[in-house]
This record gives sequence, C-alpha cells and structure tokens, in this order.
Amino acid sequence: MQDVQKGEELYRGKAKTVFYTNDADKLILEFRNDTSAFDGEKIEQLDRKGEVNNKFNHFIMQQLEDAGVKTQVEALISDNESIVKKLDMIPIECVVRNYAAGSLCRRLGVEEGLELSPQTFEFFLKNDALHDPMVNETHAIAFGWATQDQIDQMKVLTFKVNSILAPLFRKGGMLLVDFKLEFGVDKNGDIVLGDEFTPDGCRLWDAETKKKLDKDRFRQGLGSVVESYIEVAERIGLSL
Ligand code: TMP
Ligand code: ASP
Repeated sequence: MQDVQKGEELYRGKAKTVFYTNDADKLILEFRNDTSAFDGEKIEQLDRKGEVNNKFNHFIMQQLEDAGVKTQVEALISDNESIVKKLDMIPIECVVRNYAAGSLCRRLGVEEGLELSPQTFEFFLKNDALHDPMVNETHAIAFGWATQDQIDQMKVLTFKVNSILAPLFRKGGMLLVDFKLEFGVDKNGDIVLGDEFTPDGCRLWDAETKKKLDKDRFRQGLGSVVESYIEVAERIGLSL
C-alpha cells in the first residue's frame, strides 16, 4: 500500500480530483477545498475543507465496512488524499430521505422537517448540464446506466447505509435528514459504494435546535461551513 505512486489525472470533478496510480486497480482521490452548489453555479474555496472531508469520508467508510458494506476506500495517504479501488461508476445518484428538505420540498410543496414514513428513495441522473434530473429504474435499464440486479442492490445498500449511519449521527445529537450515494462496479463485477460520504452530500441537523450542520450552510449562505463539518465530526467521535 505504501508504495502506491500518484500518476496522471483521470478526472477532475467539482470538489475532488481522481488520479491513476502505478497499480491498475487503485486510484488516488484528492479532496480539494473547492465547494460547489447548484450544479457548479456557486463555487468557493473553503480553508481546510479538503482535509476535513477526506478524513470524514475515511472515518464513515470505515464504519460502513465494519458493518458489512463494501466501499471503495482503502487508506488515507495524506491530509487530503486517499487510495481507493478503481470502480466503473454508475452515473446514478441514490438518495434516501428520513425528513423532508431540499428538492423534495421544492418539488412537492411539503413542509421542511416533516418526518417521512416510510423513508423515501429516489434516483437522480448524474448530469450537471441537465441539473441532475430525477429518473426511475426503467430509465436506468432502458438507457443502459445499470441492470435490474445492480439497481436492486444499490437500493438495498442505500437503505442499509441509512440504518447504520442514522443511529451513529443520532448518538451525536443529530438527525440524518437525507443523503446521496454513488456506486460503482469493481473488477469482480460487484457493486461497491464509491464517491464520498461527507457533509457535502447529506443533510444533518442538530436534533434539538434543528440547526443545519451540512452543505446547506454553504448553499444558503449561512456561514461557518467547515466549522460545522468539524463539529459534526467531533460529535461522532472523530477529532480533526
Ligand atoms: P436534494 O434535496 O437536492 O434532492 O438532495 C438530497 C440529498 O442528496 C442532499 O443531502 C444533497 C444530496 N445531493 C448531492 O450531494 N448531490 C446531488 O447532485 C444531489 C442531486 C443531491
Ligand atoms: N453537488 C452539486 C453541485 O455542486 C449539487 C449541490 O450540492 O447543490 O452543484
């Protein structure tokens, strides 16, 4: 693991850059300070965010691995870089919601904070130019983004992640309002959790005051973005 060398850039996303390594099965994920919202319309650099998200992601993925969810993450190699398994990413985002917020409220006119029973599940196509439209599983199969079996597995795994992480955040006095996951296929053809789990891709509220502690602070211009991410980390036992 120690002698994995960083190679050429493979892909530069809005907040992370992916690099090849000297091992064909491994990539390096670099978490940058760039913070984007509204499909890249709003972008700012926030001090320490790359480091905080890299370490946060590693910590959460470790919890998920321990609970039996296969993830892409292999090791932290610096403050803002991790080694990950190479996956063929499926271009679909899986969202589970425990409480109403964000686009659910905008689309359906429901009140923010409403507890959802059952918890809801949605797929979105990962495409900024089209503003990540909501799609269903027949679209995914018809357009070849995923097979029925992969879809079934992604759905089961996303709910499993919810059942692991909602109690983890609840113990830290927070509500996991909603979150987004992305999956990929590894060299054995297995579905593996990829991308990241950080406060950039989920909503977390203080359970008592309902104070927002996630990227909505950035989207809504509430300030103290990275400070809030650090507070979330500390509340779940990760000191940064
Ligand atoms: P939404 O309310 O905007 O649909 O988002 C639901 C959750 O998924 C929220 O925690 C943010 C996250 N998300 C992303 O991180 N990136 C995305 O592109 C989308 C559509 C959602
Ligand atoms: N991640 C997307 C973007 O950067 C959507 C969002 O988080 O608002 O634009």
